[in-house]
Amino acid sequence: MNQPILSVKSLTKRFGGLTAVNGVDLDVYPGEVVALLGDNGAGKSTLIKCVSGVYRADEGEVRFEGKPVNFNKPIDARAVGVETIYQDLALANNLDVPANIFLGREAKKSFWGGLIKTLNDRYMLDESRRGLADLDIQFRSLTQPIESLSGGQRQAVAIARAIYWNARLMIMDEPTNNLGVPEQQKVLELISKLKSQNVPVILITHTMPDVFAVADRVVVMHRGRKVSDKRVTETDHQELVRYMVGALDDFGTTAV
Ligand SMILES: Nc1ncnc2c1ncn2[C@@H]1O[C@H](COP(=O)(O)OP(=O)(O)OP(=O)(O)O)[C@@H](O)[C@H]1O
Ligand SMILES: [Mg+2]
Repeated sequence: MNQPILSVKSLTKRFGGLTAVNGVDLDVYPGEVVALLGDNGAGKSTLIKCVSGVYRADEGEVRFEGKPVNFNKPIDARAVGVETIYQDLALANNLDVPANIFLGREAKKSFWGGLIKTLNDRYMLDESRRGLADLDIQFRSLTQPIESLSGGQRQAVAIARAIYWNARLMIMDEPTNNLGVPEQQKVLELISKLKSQNVPVILITHTMPDVFAVADRVVVMHRGRKVSDKRVTETDHQELVRYMVGALDDFGTTAV
């Protein structure tokens, strides 16, 4: 098989005396959807935050497209194409859709031979409309603040932003949480769309049907450790629950 886009080796992250992530390995290949499953507090969000530059790992290595990386902040990760949609969504609520899509990468226009620079709002609006239309997402108005949109529309904006900026890896932390059923369906469709464009996705979820609907592989964490890493076709709902509660562990030296 080709080389992994993301390769995490023996990653450990501690908060004081608590080991939130404990020696976790994770490889993600092009076009692959990897579900990351685990009970509350299993360490899923902490693991992906160590990948996306929110936290520095205490131990271990992260390689992106074959090269060791050490992102100090999320914008460094975004600069090389690691787009993350956090559980506590990373959109600016008081800004509108184009401002969010271009957040930190605003388009400018200049006057008087470059003496005066202003934001190119027209361009950003047109580009945002085009990006969202490509994804088949309809909005009544793109110029209303994000906080007036539904959860599903916000997810769509975050995904549109990732696609617009050519994400090389998409990380989504519980993207279907708090969404209505049609919106959940839409997010799953967008994940499939990313996959069809060969963009790998790490999908953190509690929702078992989502795993079987979109994932190729499922990684289960329990109390900071990886306890399972299988193709979805090699497991089932019942077995995954056993991994999640710590009754099964494929990597532990002792039973949990
Ligand atoms: N900033 C922090 N400071 C201290 N402890 C933290 C911090 N973030 C997470 N933790 C702890 O680390 C452990 C793992 O948390 P994490 O948020 O990674 O879990 P999770 O698997 O994402 O859970 P959930 O499914 O509830 O989102 C938990 O015990 C949590 O309390
Ligand atoms: Mg979490």
